Amino acid sequence: MRAVSRPNILLLESIHATAHEEFARHGVAVHTAAGALSEAQLVAALRGLPQDVPLLLGIRSKTQVTPAVLDATPALLAVGAFCIGTDQIALQAARERGVAVFNAPFSNTRSVAELVLGEIIMLSRQVFARSQACHRGLWHKSAEGSHEVRGKTLGIVGYGHIGSQLSVLAESLGMQVRYHDILPKLPLGNAQPCGSLNELLGLADFVTLHVPDTELTRGMFGVAELAVMKPGAALINASRGMVVDLAALREALERGRLSGAAVDVFPSEPAKAGDVFDSPLRGLDTVILTPHIGGSTQEAQANIGREVASSLSAYLGTGSTTGCVTLPNVDAAPLRSGARILNVHRNVPGVLSAVNQLMADSQVNITGQSLATVESIGLLHVDVPLRADDPKAQRLGAAIAALSTSLRTRVI
Ligand code: NAI
Repeated sequence: MRAVSRPNILLLESIHATAHEEFARHGVAVHTAAGALSEAQLVAALRGLPQDVPLLLGIRSKTQVTPAVLDATPALLAVGAFCIGTDQIALQAARERGVAVFNAPFSNTRSVAELVLGEIIMLSRQVFARSQACHRGLWHKSAEGSHEVRGKTLGIVGYGHIGSQLSVLAESLGMQVRYHDILPKLPLGNAQPCGSLNELLGLADFVTLHVPDTELTRGMFGVAELAVMKPGAALINASRGMVVDLAALREALERGRLSGAAVDVFPSEPAKAGDVFDSPLRGLDTVILTPHIGGSTQEAQANIGREVASSLSAYLGTGSTTGCVTLPNVDAAPLRSGARILNVHRNVPGVLSAVNQLMADSQVNITGQSLATVESIGLLHVDVPLRADDPKAQRLGAAIAALSTSLRTRVI
């Protein structure tokens, strides 16, 4: 046990410069490797860094953090996934070992909302079909089927981060916004909730989906829902690929029941850039197809760098775990004086009394304490009126770390 001094982070996969700036501000030493590392390379790189000060890892989507990596690097305190998903990390294994994992699920909200807004106008003016005709040498000048979006109704399914931001942007274009969500959601601006999905589908000129991938949403948009949509309406899906039945959508478009669609996400997507793409929607000039780029902007990457680096820095500095996907979420206040002992432990009866007994035995007063648990894991903050480098604080930290229930303990 020793007080926090010059923590180290290994950053892989060309993480955005905003993360480097954030770590520099918090005194974290950054070590980098440009690409993803294999399991063995990752273990070697992590073990090559000091093991007696906090050790962190930052990755994007290509580096796999397996249980074997976690077992081989007991000094690893936290992993930052500088991306949206965390599928590349063995989350349960990280939780069981007390390793904090942070990601940035909402950093690209604005990027998705802007793309959808653009697509609404493109669909309304048949821009893609007209543009393709021009490329083929055809001058297809006509107002037929082209409309302004002002005054039209936008139906948003899923009024979360993206849906609600889109709502505000669409109103600024003069659209009427209606939404449907399974949870009661406060309307922004003049938007109004609909009593049911079918009510929304019956009155929207554009329906846009912003729901997560759940048992309820998988296949939620099929023949029946498309049949209830207003004739000539358009459908946009930039949420998750399994939400829409693409064969049914193609049929509705071919029959002219819907005027168009924009689809960014697919039930099965190619693994990497440059791979072959196929979809039942290929070849329809009323459909805008994009390769899952809704959230892919430079601004989103910059936001991700900033957000994950600041979560990791907060965890180092105060023990705050807001947004952590493996540990209980605690928004810990910064320490005004004294030290904080942070103990991640197995959530079994008696931990708090064992820790408090150690505190009592060493005659150290507790100035603040908080305990949060989630499933098998507990997170305990104990504030004490000692400096972090005071030998007494260090001895206490070591004694707490030695409890059989302790997974990760440090004094900050
Ligand atoms: P969020 O979690 O903030 O909002 C989702 C909303 O959907 C919540 O309000 C929730 O209550 C609601 N909902 C859940 N089940 C529902 C149901 N059966 N019917 C109606 N509403 C339901 O999520 P956020 O950030 O707005 O993302 C929405 C979707 O967009 C997610 O699927 C996400 O994976 C996807 N996404 C796609 C991107 C892209 O590149 N195309 C980039 C970022 C997110």
